[in-house]
Amino acid sequence: MRFKFVSFLTIAAICISCNSKDDIIAENVENAKVQVGSLLEASEAGDTLRIPSTFKDGEIEFVPVDDWVSGFFAGTLWYMYELTGDEYWAEHAQKHTEALDEIQYLTWHHDVGFMVYDSYGNGLRLKGIDAYRDVLVNTAASLSTRFRPEAGVLQSWNTDRGWQAERGWTCPVIIDNMMNLELLFKVSEMTGDQRFRDIAVSHADKTLENHYRPDFSTYHVVDYDLCTGAVLGRCTAQGYSDDSAWARGQAWSIYGFTVAYRFTGDQKYLDRAENVAAYLFSHPAMPEDLVPYWDFDAPDIPDACKDVSSAAIIASALYELSYLADNAGYKETADKIVESLSGPAYRAEQGTNGGFILMHSVGSIPHGSNVDVPLNYADYYFLEALVRKGRIENGLAPVEK
Ligand code: GLY
Repeated sequence: MRFKFVSFLTIAAICISCNSKDDIIAENVENAKVQVGSLLEASEAGDTLRIPSTFKDGEIEFVPVDDWVSGFFAGTLWYMYELTGDEYWAEHAQKHTEALDEIQYLTWHHDVGFMVYDSYGNGLRLKGIDAYRDVLVNTAASLSTRFRPEAGVLQSWNTDRGWQAERGWTCPVIIDNMMNLELLFKVSEMTGDQRFRDIAVSHADKTLENHYRPDFSTYHVVDYDLCTGAVLGRCTAQGYSDDSAWARGQAWSIYGFTVAYRFTGDQKYLDRAENVAAYLFSHPAMPEDLVPYWDFDAPDIPDACKDVSSAAIIASALYELSYLADNAGYKETADKIVESLSGPAYRAEQGTNGGFILMHSVGSIPHGSNVDVPLNYADYYFLEALVRKGRIENGLAPVEK
């Protein structure tokens, strides 16, 4: 496989779907224009912009700015811009991004990496809006306040409020936290401030060391002692059981270590991403259509809920992994997932599903929250997968550096 690197100014002028050699991208983009267009209309219908997260009982649900999923809708609009080249989407993406301004100072949870990189990060990449740099830098500083030097990790959740307060944890770190490192690596590159990269590397190394079972499945939560850095326990919050393989955790794992390799070139991160991929795709509970059940150990498989968000995250990660590992097999697998998600079992008919593109995701079964519904991050990673697929098929690196 051969890829060319091009600058963001070149990319901004590229309409991925127009250049695609593959009709599945163009067809999905036409569908997304209708669905995301109607969701956008709903989100701008009131006096203030609202952030759509899911659709239940005939109603779109909206979330506040400090919710972990708040950046995905703005990010979806940026990907619509990237896929179509139409300034309409960029205009709305910019408005929805700038409505998230306060996140850069949020320090009470770890998800700011997701929230700001999906929105401001994509805006900076595609439009070069200079003020967005400051937002990324401020957010990296806020996230870094959660670094616990003795344990060498970023603490994911606080333990003094909500359901997390009832678990007896000291310094809980969830595998999802690997997704916040992209922001730190990027800001370190942009500013030359090594501190952010050091934190990201330390967190990735500790995760590599402590979060995995011998078969390369990942625990969801690892709790650390704040004074000694010792591991106090390994368990789950959103999976079926402490020892089970929660599907989205496995998805974050493969995506997160692929990104860590992109920024560091450290072979052990690439190996981990590949080991996780091998675990997933040889698992007897992986369905033929490659859309996982919500947990690989759910006792009611094959009647268990599927989790489309996991499939979309895995597909997007595999496009990058195919490039970094120079292995076309990962792209073939990602293409199969995209094909499954584009079919009637998972993609909503136009005018339905509240305007979300994909159906059948799972937020958290143990919390009884968002079970078998559309989720804004499933749509976000699906569009990201289409962007990456289109770039590869146009001879470009899947992810713009
Ligand atoms: N980061 C939370 C989740 O994956 O549900």
